[in-house]
Amino acid sequence: MPTSTKTLSIVYHSPYGHTARVASYIAKGAEKMGVKVFLMSIEDVQWDVLDQSHGIIFGSPTYMGSVSGPFKVFMDSTSKRWMSRAWQGKMAAGFTNSGGLSGDKLSVLQQINLFAMQHGMLWTGLPLLSKGHSTSDLNRLASHLGLMTQSDNAPVDITPPEGDLKTALWFGEYIALTLQRIKD
Ligand SMILES: Cc1cc2nc3c(=O)[nH]c(=O)nc-3n(C[C@H](O)[C@H](O)[C@H](O)COP(=O)(O)O)c2cc1C
Repeated sequence: MPTSTKTLSIVYHSPYGHTARVASYIAKGAEKMGVKVFLMSIEDVQWDVLDQSHGIIFGSPTYMGSVSGPFKVFMDSTSKRWMSRAWQGKMAAGFTNSGGLSGDKLSVLQQINLFAMQHGMLWTGLPLLSKGHSTSDLNRLASHLGLMTQSDNAPVDITPPEGDLKTALWFGEYIALTLQRIKD
């Protein structure tokens, strides 16, 4: 297994746990590649950890085609860091979970992407071609700006499906490998 001193934070909002489950699979993938991962919900943000991380992955459920209200509050609360360019040059990526197959998730990834660009971060997408559209397939929702997953109205041990969780794992591995290619 490759080793690295790179650190990655994953910060998410997840009232019902589905987005959190996806976050945990991204973390597993990144850890597998030797990156140190800090997983945190927006209710428990560790600002000093975010400030020190080499990369930050942002995750929100899709609410009416947008990030959730609490996630937007988190975004706005980074304004001092935006002003001081504190996060400029850090790697960034985004993910969103929704109930609908589309659910207008693209809009959420675009919002997170613009937020990261406003901060001067280095955006990483999901360069994985869809392997099909069944629930066991990698990138079944064929997203490239970031990771999209979909959950039914059911417990987190049932949904999102296997393919989405495998895609989250792949995304974490990819981000970790990309992070390790960047020189400090
Ligand atoms: C206020 C609200 C708005 C929502 N809007 C959408 C939506 O626009 N599209 C969609 O597919 N699902 C929508 N959903 C479903 C959520 O995306 C889904 O419940 C969420 O991703 C579950 O994530 P969590 O378990 O991490 O909280 C909405 C849910 C709520 C509560």
